Amino acid sequence: MDWKIKSLEEYALAYQESRSNPELYWGKVADTFKWNKKWESVLSGSIEDANIKWFDGAELNITENCLDRHLEERGDKVALIYEPNDPNEPALEYTYKQLHTAVCKTANMLKAQGVEKGDRVCLYMSMVPELMISVLACARIGAIHSVVFGGFSAHALAGRIEDCDCKILITNDAGHRGEKIIHLKDIADKALDDLDNSPVQKVIVHKRVGNDIEMKEGRDLWWHDLYKEASSDYPSETMQAEDPLFILYTSGSTGKPKGVLHTTAGYMVWAAYTFGNVFQMNEEDRYWCTADIGWITGHTYLTYGPLLNGVTTTMFEGIPTFPNPGRFWEVVDKHKITHFYTAPTAVRALMACDPSFVTNNNLDSLKVLGSVGEPINAEAWHWYNKSIGKEKCPIVDTWWQTETGGILISSLAGVTEGKPCFATLPLPGVFPALMDAEGKVIEERESEGNLCITRPWPGMLRSIWGDHERFKQTYLSAYPGSYFTGDGCKRDADGLYRITGRVDDVLNVSGHRIGTAEVENAIGQHPDVIESAIVGFPHDIKGQGIYAYVIASENHSPEEMREEILKVITEEIGPIAKPDKIQIVPGLPKTRSGKIMRRILRKIAAKEFDNFGDTSTLLDPSIVDKIKDGAL
Ligand code: WT7
Repeated sequence: MDWKIKSLEEYALAYQESRSNPELYWGKVADTFKWNKKWESVLSGSIEDANIKWFDGAELNITENCLDRHLEERGDKVALIYEPNDPNEPALEYTYKQLHTAVCKTANMLKAQGVEKGDRVCLYMSMVPELMISVLACARIGAIHSVVFGGFSAHALAGRIEDCDCKILITNDAGHRGEKIIHLKDIADKALDDLDNSPVQKVIVHKRVGNDIEMKEGRDLWWHDLYKEASSDYPSETMQAEDPLFILYTSGSTGKPKGVLHTTAGYMVWAAYTFGNVFQMNEEDRYWCTADIGWITGHTYLTYGPLLNGVTTTMFEGIPTFPNPGRFWEVVDKHKITHFYTAPTAVRALMACDPSFVTNNNLDSLKVLGSVGEPINAEAWHWYNKSIGKEKCPIVDTWWQTETGGILISSLAGVTEGKPCFATLPLPGVFPALMDAEGKVIEERESEGNLCITRPWPGMLRSIWGDHERFKQTYLSAYPGSYFTGDGCKRDADGLYRITGRVDDVLNVSGHRIGTAEVENAIGQHPDVIESAIVGFPHDIKGQGIYAYVIASENHSPEEMREEILKVITEEIGPIAKPDKIQIVPGLPKTRSGKIMRRILRKIAAKEFDNFGDTSTLLDPSIVDKIKDGAL
């Protein structure tokens, strides 16, 4: 069966079939992949029992589907275009054959260092081709990759390495990011030094910048030394459908980051199916997703989804504003990009720059634009549509999460209708429900509520690494029988969905997820901090900014205290979690039971100084005025 949906009628039919006979439908989709052994059952287990399995009993390797499967038909087609940070450095291209060879060599190299099926390998790298190659090499061996975004601190890296017990760490000497150099190896050294019992046996260092680093005898090895020795023949490991494929850490509303666990067959089918149907690419098209592989978008829609579909994918090392804010559009012209996928925060940042940065480029290769990571506001949507898409490119506003593995709600480019600021319709296999305050499904069409998904889909996370109980608690217990997304959502009279943002204590800053509790814990590490509360506030470019209210002892001036707090957050989490505003306050608005009334703090952060609602349950209502008077 060809599962590519080509018309509105086909969409309706596929959706219907995925509802009435999901096993038949997904069995037919899965039939189009390469399996060593077919499944015994398409779907088993239930959300109630938190034991969902897709294609159980099947055997496969995802890299056979990403690479080997294409060699005969399109071995010499470009699989990966690599655009370096510096526009004067030549771009690189890997054909499917070359990428296959690189992945096999890297798999052999890892194997020679003792990596085996089921082992965890941590990738703390900049955006170099070897990052994508390492991801695929792990999958070929059956090792579980855990990519940690290169912007995280030593402390954050150490926590992630420890949590999933990584045997091998792959890193770069350093990475380029615009004008900056990120000293990845130094940070990695510090992370490993900080661990009492580091599980990491070997550190493989890929040279990118050529800066001076320390190579620890017996532990640290150069990538290029190992790579040249490695054989280019690596028959892939046979994996069970539900064997773990990767762990990716993400922030929640409480506690430390969770290791979201995705497994092999269901994730593969979902990545391929959603990519193919949402982006609607033709064989000769060229796709570019601007995300970093350190985030889920870089896993599913820079690496796995495009390769599973046999298309050309583009990886960019740099940032949108280097050497100038025209860089994205220059790269689009340079590589004749047809399908471009980015985050609203980038659109807003570039929209604020001189229009000539756009108009200097012709952008006529573009056919489809995508948006991901946060709600796109009307202004940004219209600018993207007019200035970049020249009103001829459908925009797919794709809603999904680290946990969902792939897109759940989006229009299908050129097939189903888009609507500004709406993710629009669920993909086949996705059954959304809006829940009211009592936890009941809202039946009216035009409504608003908390977004849940009522049935399992193939790309759904299977657990939290090492903490199945937390998995159940976080996602499956608020609305029994459903997966709770943490998002609020509106549905219009036509049944189209519009995601309004998180309803829990998770912030979305420039499309990055940041837990308020995590930032509070980091601030609390400072000896002179008594207590803090973090809330989000509307931010023109970032979507949400971070506002910190801090009670401090009087050892420092407020200015000093702010500096110190920024430092401790950078050390504990990384620069991405730095608050935009830090207000030193004499107290926090607490109820008699000791709960912080965040609603009030959010209002003050948003500069809404009236209508605080009922404050009679506050222990000391006068604190509200004091905080208001010092608001930033
Ligand atoms: C949260 C998930 C999806 C991959 C990148 C982020 C928000 C994501 C949209 C969208 C409105 C969106 C949600 C979601 N979000 N896409 N198209 N419209 N909101 O993955 O870090 O797991 O964050 O991002 O709030 O829950 P993530």
